[in-house]
Amino acid sequence: MVGAGTQLAKQVYVVRVQGRIRPPGDKSISHRALMVAALTRATIEVKGILTAADAKSAARVLRQLGVDVSPMQRGRSVYVRGRAWRRPVATLDCGNSGTTARLALGALAGHRFETRLSGDASLRRRPMRRVTRPLVDMGAVVTEEAGDCLPLSIRGGNLSSIRYQSPVPSAQVKSAILLAGLAGNVPVTVVEPVRSRDHTERMFQFLGFDVQKDENEVIFRGAGADWPRVDDFVLEIPGDASSAAFLVAAALMATGGELLIEYTGVNPTRTGFLEVLARMGALVTRENERRVCGEPVADLIVRPSNLNATEVGADEIPGLIDEVPVLAVLAARAEGETIFRSVGELRVKESDRLTLIAQNLRAVGASAEVQGEDLVVVGSDRPFCGKVETARDHRLTMAFAVAGFAAARNIELSESNSAAISYPGFFQDLHRIMLRD
Ligand code: S3P
Repeated sequence: MVGAGTQLAKQVYVVRVQGRIRPPGDKSISHRALMVAALTRATIEVKGILTAADAKSAARVLRQLGVDVSPMQRGRSVYVRGRAWRRPVATLDCGNSGTTARLALGALAGHRFETRLSGDASLRRRPMRRVTRPLVDMGAVVTEEAGDCLPLSIRGGNLSSIRYQSPVPSAQVKSAILLAGLAGNVPVTVVEPVRSRDHTERMFQFLGFDVQKDENEVIFRGAGADWPRVDDFVLEIPGDASSAAFLVAAALMATGGELLIEYTGVNPTRTGFLEVLARMGALVTRENERRVCGEPVADLIVRPSNLNATEVGADEIPGLIDEVPVLAVLAARAEGETIFRSVGELRVKESDRLTLIAQNLRAVGASAEVQGEDLVVVGSDRPFCGKVETARDHRLTMAFAVAGFAAARNIELSESNSAAISYPGFFQDLHRIMLRD
């Protein structure tokens, strides 16, 4: 059993937060921008794209399919010249990126050639049938080599329309089906148990496609008579809310100062962590709210806060699935017992995040336990100290790096390079905003 909550004493370490910072481009939206642009017969300029390893995996895969994607460099636009995809000569290497693999599978379902996809060791243990099953129902032919996992081959074809009731709330499943509908020119409907992030449908709407969103259902009827021959257009990518979450957490755990996080995506299907943090007593305000290519964006102002425990319900999980590691770290500093309900999905992320969050929190002296599908964390003011196994999982690395800052660097990470999967320059940014007295 996890011990009872303890009364929190004054924080031990003095770490001031300061300045303003802009998180890197949103990983999910960057993927969708590349995929949709690649399916056109136009030249698309993508501003603010994420230049991290995962987005580069998507660009590499598209180049293997014959699409012209300009080099991805920080601070520079990427130009995608869409064209008819051709059968790749080699296996598509999706690297560490589940989003690349699953979105590419969807788009490939609309193409009449066979493609083999694989990825790194982490990606090769992640489930793919959740995506291939509906694509097969639509008419794609899938040849498995390793059961539910990569590598596998897909031959797209004459797709038929589908109304798919997804058993998992997954934006990757939903987006794969929407991209299959777009690439294969068939209407599709996806119904989810709980609404997942809606970037694909927002991008479709922004481009004027016939798409209707209703509670947990999205209906895509077509991209218009001229598709894929559209005029050249520009897409702008907001800062990644999930990357911003680490900066928010660092600022909340500081003992003084204030942080301004600029140009952050605040799509309500992604800001579950901000709602949970507000409940916990976090001082986070939004300013300058605006819309960029159909996505809500704001500047966040974060001040150090004393947090209280909360219960995070099963229905809230899809809206904060990538933020559970960092929220769990914050929960270990909050007063009382925090419960994350039904977080079994974390077992099939880049690592078995559920087991590793609990294991690593215990390794640094915090109190955490997996109880069935729930994660229970009991807060205390005990300084974090110990070794963390990141399993090369970027979100574990960054969550515990933030914990390390609050613990005056008494946390040793097994590696730190994995942060670059979604946030190149993360450690420089963290050093820039945090000052130790
Ligand atoms: C993503 C959806 C989520 C998330 C992942 C990115 C996306 O995965 O964890 O980091 O871009 O669609 P699931 O769709 O598997 O929940």
